[in-house]
Amino acid sequence: MTANNRSDESGIDLDDIGTNPTANPSFTDLIASRLSRRHLFGLGVGTAGTALLQACGGGSDGGVSFPILPPAPAPAPPAPPPAPAAPLKLNFNAVAKSLDDVVSVPAGYTASVLYRLGDPIAAGVPAYANDGTDAPATYDRRAGDHHDGMTFFGINASNKWDPAGASRGLLVMNHEAITPLFLHPTGQTVVGGVRTVADEVQREFYLHGVSVIEVNKTGNAWSYKQDSSLNRRVHTLTEMSFSGPAAKTDYLKTKYSTDGSKTRGTLNNCANGTTPWGTYLTCEENWAGYFRRIKANDDAKRTAKELASFSRYGVAGSDGLGRERWATVTPDTIDNLYGRWNTEVIGATATDDFRNGHNTYGWVVEIDPFTPASTPKKRTALGRFGHEGACLGPVVVGKPLVWYMGDDSQNEYLYKFVSTKAWDAADIGGGIAAGDKYMDDGKLYVAKFNADGTGNWLELKLGVNNITSGYAKYAFADAADVVINARHAADAAGATKMDRPEWTAVNPKNGEVYLTLTNNTARPVGGTDAANPRSYNDPKNGAAQKGNPNGHIVRFADAGGNPTAVTFTWDCYLFGARSTASADVNLSALGADNDFSSPDGMWFSEAAPGLLWLETDDGKYTDVTNCMLLAALPGKVGDGAAKTITNVDGGTTGTQATFVGKAPGTESLRRFLVGPKDCEITGIAESGDGRALFVNIQHPGEGTSDITAPISHWPDGGTSRPRSATVVITKNDGGRIGL
Ligand code: FEO
Ligand code: CA
Ligand code: CA
Repeated sequence: MTANNRSDESGIDLDDIGTNPTANPSFTDLIASRLSRRHLFGLGVGTAGTALLQACGGGSDGGVSFPILPPAPAPAPPAPPPAPAAPLKLNFNAVAKSLDDVVSVPAGYTASVLYRLGDPIAAGVPAYANDGTDAPATYDRRAGDHHDGMTFFGINASNKWDPAGASRGLLVMNHEAITPLFLHPTGQTVVGGVRTVADEVQREFYLHGVSVIEVNKTGNAWSYKQDSSLNRRVHTLTEMSFSGPAAKTDYLKTKYSTDGSKTRGTLNNCANGTTPWGTYLTCEENWAGYFRRIKANDDAKRTAKELASFSRYGVAGSDGLGRERWATVTPDTIDNLYGRWNTEVIGATATDDFRNGHNTYGWVVEIDPFTPASTPKKRTALGRFGHEGACLGPVVVGKPLVWYMGDDSQNEYLYKFVSTKAWDAADIGGGIAAGDKYMDDGKLYVAKFNADGTGNWLELKLGVNNITSGYAKYAFADAADVVINARHAADAAGATKMDRPEWTAVNPKNGEVYLTLTNNTARPVGGTDAANPRSYNDPKNGAAQKGNPNGHIVRFADAGGNPTAVTFTWDCYLFGARSTASADVNLSALGADNDFSSPDGMWFSEAAPGLLWLETDDGKYTDVTNCMLLAALPGKVGDGAAKTITNVDGGTTGTQATFVGKAPGTESLRRFLVGPKDCEITGIAESGDGRALFVNIQHPGEGTSDITAPISHWPDGGTSRPRSATVVITKNDGGRIGL
């Protein structure tokens, strides 16, 4: 198996192909609200601005220093009114689209490579040879592959969290997946469909997961500290515990954990999130494809409900062996390091095999980066699906906490979790115990986008919203069943099928939430709706690309500026497109300096509230440009207009009413970086002062099929194999990035 086998010819990640067969919802069946958009947009927008912190995705979490302090014990003397902040202004020359094998940034900036695949993070581990000969046993102390979501936690001299920290920090990042061709002497050794070299599999176990590394600034330059006692790797062998409704239930019992309290490892960690108490959230996205389950062996041993769950989550691919075929290694170890990836019924009971192994993945996982020996915890109250990320909403003392979460597959949903407990700033620094307080008990919702620009949050709870034992497609049994089968619950509730929900981001200026919808080849002209309004043909090198190939970004405002509200208003902030596309495709009037395709990573700066960073994971516009990072200064929900567009995909024509945000122009959207060949730009974080921007370059040269001729040689150049890596971007005059 090579990297090439992971994508179809159109560049679609096979793991992102949808498994949602429901008819949820047909907008033509929805009843239009009698409330006008003008009225709705007058409520709540901007009213949350008094006490906001958002700390999702990357970033320093720097807002905690001001908005979440407990109430003062005595009235403070009146302070002079603060001077109004000057409006932000993008202050760099746009980077041109490029197919070069380099990282391009604007004049006046420097991008430096900080942390590459295989780099050692412990004393005594040798430098990475990068030719497939590095010792497998060292990989638990090396950088993983496919760097993804990332957070910078500033640290003080006592190694405690300092959100304002600008010269020393912990950089915590996900390693989503691997490009096997570059990891071994000549790619994976597979004989007769079986992995025959256990050493290769051991490398791969360690190359997934999460890195925690100490980074330091000297002058204007950043480096990581190889021998820091705070460095840590979390990978597929790391023990993790469960909490929340599914913990210690039959669904999670395995040979490894006979009471369902724990599992080993985390996998396909895509985007990330944070907590206001200073921990990191890593999100398990395309985990389903790693499991072996041969239908012919297993189907007859399963209940109808189990089969419905497998189908809805896509467990077992076309050959059922799992994408890396880890379960095929023989002999197995005494602790089932390989056999645990076989999720078939083999033994007498669930504690004799790993028939429930798939249920132990698909979660949001909390890691305390300040306590290297701590056990990560899978938070089951936040639901099990293809978790892209978990963006923390506004943080207000005395109010519940909220996280917004995308489920990235075609036609999946947007979710949010609202804690039962109200935020108490005394919990800052509380680690995993604070997580137990806020993340194990709360309400899980899924979003329904209405045709009139309103929306509803539908609670996923046994007994409400059609989530009952009488639901025809999946008879729900209990609270654990609902979170484990959250996709079925969301189907039952009537959620809106979206064009692949990726990252969420919360605007610290007004609490509005942005959602990247990266693309969707399964959105026919007759199947559009107001929130997923486009279906068209965007040919690439003469080949048709239909559906919504370039993606868009929806944003919404929870009612009253209250993230616990169960209604919202929305519009489409931005549409990806070639600048040369027709007006019904290039709905945001993008030009040469800001056109893009397939938005994915997205994060609001905390040092510069209102500045949005937007990253692409694209295979549709790659005839013209490599993937990129753009800087944006968005307005707010409703700043554009209602519009009815005409969709034409070459054979079919249709119209669709939607709401299009104000066209950004280059003053509000500008390309800041273009990456090397065949990469994705993802993961973003900044130092506490906003003067260092950390960005991940994932899988350069991924499409290579011949190890002797890599498509990319980034970052080391020459004839080297390419490596995923973190770059740090600084302004040559030491100023803030992008402004
Ligand atoms: Fe891993 Fe949905 O991107
Ligand atoms: Ca992503
Ligand atoms: Ca993606």
